[in-house]
Amino acid sequence: MILVLDFGSQYNQLITRRIREFGVYSELHSHKISIEEIKKINPKGIILSGGPHSVYDENSFRPDERIFELDIPVLGICYGMQLMALHYGGKVDKSKNREYGKATISLQNNPVLFSETPEAQTVWMSHGDKVVEAPSTFTVDATNPSTPIAAFSMKEKKMYGVQFHPEVRHSEYGNQLLRNFVFDVCGASGDWTIENFIEQEVKAIREKVGNRNVLCALSGGVDSSVVAALIHKAIGDQLTCIFVDHGLLRKNEADDVMKVFADDFDMNVIKVDASERFLSKLKGVDDPEKKRKIIGNEFIYVFDDEAAKLKDMDFLAQGTLYTDIIESGTETAQTIKSHHNVGGLPEDMQFELIEPLNTLFKDEVRELGSQLGLPDRIVWRQPFPGPGLAIRVLGEVTDEKLEIVRESDAILREEIANAGLERDIWQYFTVLPNIRSVGVMGDARTYDYTIGIRAVTSIDGMTSDWARIPFDVLEKVSTRIVNEVAHINRVVYDITSKPPATIEWE
Ligand code: XMP
Repeated sequence: MILVLDFGSQYNQLITRRIREFGVYSELHSHKISIEEIKKINPKGIILSGGPHSVYDENSFRPDERIFELDIPVLGICYGMQLMALHYGGKVDKSKNREYGKATISLQNNPVLFSETPEAQTVWMSHGDKVVEAPSTFTVDATNPSTPIAAFSMKEKKMYGVQFHPEVRHSEYGNQLLRNFVFDVCGASGDWTIENFIEQEVKAIREKVGNRNVLCALSGGVDSSVVAALIHKAIGDQLTCIFVDHGLLRKNEADDVMKVFADDFDMNVIKVDASERFLSKLKGVDDPEKKRKIIGNEFIYVFDDEAAKLKDMDFLAQGTLYTDIIESGTETAQTIKSHHNVGGLPEDMQFELIEPLNTLFKDEVRELGSQLGLPDRIVWRQPFPGPGLAIRVLGEVTDEKLEIVRESDAILREEIANAGLERDIWQYFTVLPNIRSVGVMGDARTYDYTIGIRAVTSIDGMTSDWARIPFDVLEKVSTRIVNEVAHINRVVYDITSKPPATIEWE
């Protein structure tokens, strides 16, 4: 295992990702991790990430300095290098100017960390402060006119530092450098794969659960689906899933979930048709946050009612991902919308939690799902909000309006699939704003609703750009929606990025 300590760099998750791509297990931990805990983990190597602070700031993040005395190789990146320099008696210069962007470094002394990379190479710099005097026991391994100490090392103690960011793709040989550290310096073995993960997790789940029972809230989304499939592989019929159909799903979605899990996977799935319950609670409510709260709470009540009917359920399975854990630790961002995740833990329920995906990133979860035999349409399902179509019908939710969104959304999805754009667009759907406008159809005046098309490209939903769907595809979608969906006489395309807009309209 390679332990990455987080000092707040925007790239810190990337380091862990890169190392896992080499087949070496890696975890990102807060810089506050105790020395005892590190000893318990007993990593093959430690990487100190970059960070936004200056090592001279009063409140700068500091690790327990005993990490340098554990006889474990350490690689300091940017801020991490500066911490290492200070610890061993070097000097860091506080600089007002940031060096940001590509730079060329030249190697010196045939450094191990850079083996199989050329003498001059492009790297990605992003720093203000820099090391200006290497500790006396260190050698300088790479230089650059503006950053004379671009890399240094003390080979005997396996201490390495680089001022640039090898984890960023713009660092031409960054991956090779991380490989060299992980394999040559730390001696890691590279046997961490999703197949091994399945084997280990199945064993761990069996041990943890024994002959007890697990309950899982299945939403049909990627995470809860993969959790269910993994746990089912481990304990078969000791798993029971509850699938709450809140009546706010997309066209055919509820049937499809049942087909995959109850029929193909032969799992115990209890489907609860709660559409009426949700719709009656939503009657007359037009405030988006109120709608979200009602749906979130109602979901828990329904789930609770169903769970109470079952006997001897000891565990509750959750599709918590590694990013949820990392981000909840550091997230300071203001809540723009209260996100409701179907499957959220009812607070007063007496269950032990089981969260087998909590060490995985989203793309790893997808690979896991495929290897467990889940179909592509589930593994590659676009994100879908917990409150479902209720937040795509703006204002009060009614049966009629849900039907309009459901049908128009199905047409959009069909045409995006026909154009082969499914994997290029991160999320695409239709919304029904609460406006009507005048139109003319077959010589007659109409006064009907407008449908909005929203399609975005994004990495993680935090920011996004509107997708450039070809005009001829948009034309087909528009023509079909107006012809096939009752009460629609106009289609508009949302061309706002996030920020300033959000992806959903509510
Ligand atoms: P926004 O609209 O905030 O959406 O830009 C970002 C991503 O989050 C999804 N989303 C939600 N997901 N519960 C969820 O589980 C919610 O209440 C919720 N609201 C938005 C949205 O679909 C997009 O992928």
